Amino acid sequence: MKLPSTFENLNPKQFETSWKSPSNIAFVKYWGKKGHQIPANPSLSMTLKECATKTKVIFTPSDSFEVDLFLDGVREEKFGLKIKNYLLSLIDLPWIKNNSIIIETHNTFPHGTGIASSASGLSAFALCLTDYLFYLSGENGDFFKIASHLSRLASGSACRSVYGGFTTWGQESDYFASPIHVHPELSELRDSILVIDESEKKVSSTSGHGRMAEHAFAKTRFLQANKNFDLMSSALTTGDVELMGQILESEALSLHAMMMTSPESYILLKPNTLTAIEIIRAFRQETKLPLYFTLDAGPNLHLIYPAVHQNKIQTFINNELSPLSVKVIEDEKGEGPQRC
Ligand code: PMV
Repeated sequence: MKLPSTFENLNPKQFETSWKSPSNIAFVKYWGKKGHQIPANPSLSMTLKECATKTKVIFTPSDSFEVDLFLDGVREEKFGLKIKNYLLSLIDLPWIKNNSIIIETHNTFPHGTGIASSASGLSAFALCLTDYLFYLSGENGDFFKIASHLSRLASGSACRSVYGGFTTWGQESDYFASPIHVHPELSELRDSILVIDESEKKVSSTSGHGRMAEHAFAKTRFLQANKNFDLMSSALTTGDVELMGQILESEALSLHAMMMTSPESYILLKPNTLTAIEIIRAFRQETKLPLYFTLDAGPNLHLIYPAVHQNKIQTFINNELSPLSVKVIEDEKGEGPQRC
């Protein structure tokens, strides 16, 4: 999919905009790519509310292309370079180089908690960029579809953060995400994030996706992900919490199984991740309460449950699980990005 032709040859102008965009947690995982930022299988996620990035971008016409990024007021050369390279890769926008760009960004969740900030951070930047493109071109097309497309080119999972609630990517389109409706029974889900380890992950997601190319189980994994996508979609639309939880956990463990069995094997789980999983499963067996876990590309557990069971489940988390963690971040399903 190409960007609208109204974006192709514009004259840069002074412009400033700010967006707050949330992170998301995948219920069906995107793991493996075909070509440039095209997912090897469809994925489905819940957009969060509290874990978000606020980003202000100032575009100033200039002869030299500069990108200066400040995270919490401190210049971050590595992230600035990442954005610069991303902008250089947007072949439909060669003129973007005639800008000096200042980015001021701030995560609402504690820095260094091992919670991925790429989905929130890169979608917040892509929303600001879309604002700029619409301002310059007078384009009045589908703003969020274009923001999702631009987010995807920066980080695949970021394309799902531009919508609130639940979104899919790789089913309706490989180029942008689409929001989906879920059964009222599952529309109020909470996510208590058990931060087991705060250190930066040893292997980047980019490298992890790459290892799927030569993976002995890749074909089977993509078949399983497609099947799980259908089952998860059906669980969410019919309000089948048990099926949702079963697939949620299967996806989390399959993602980590892929890492452990990849050509260059690696393990991101920590002993306390496994201890917590055993305790969660025993609690579920005993109480019959619908508490399920999932994992991102790291050791931290996202504990997913309907908000109606919040009191009992949070007491259990505080008493039994929080001693295994550095901290617990309370989050829930959110409404999506906002201008700020
Ligand atoms: O968006 P990326 O390239 O950082 O990949 C993220 C992949 C997972 O977070 C592990 C799964 C997902 O679908 O969000």
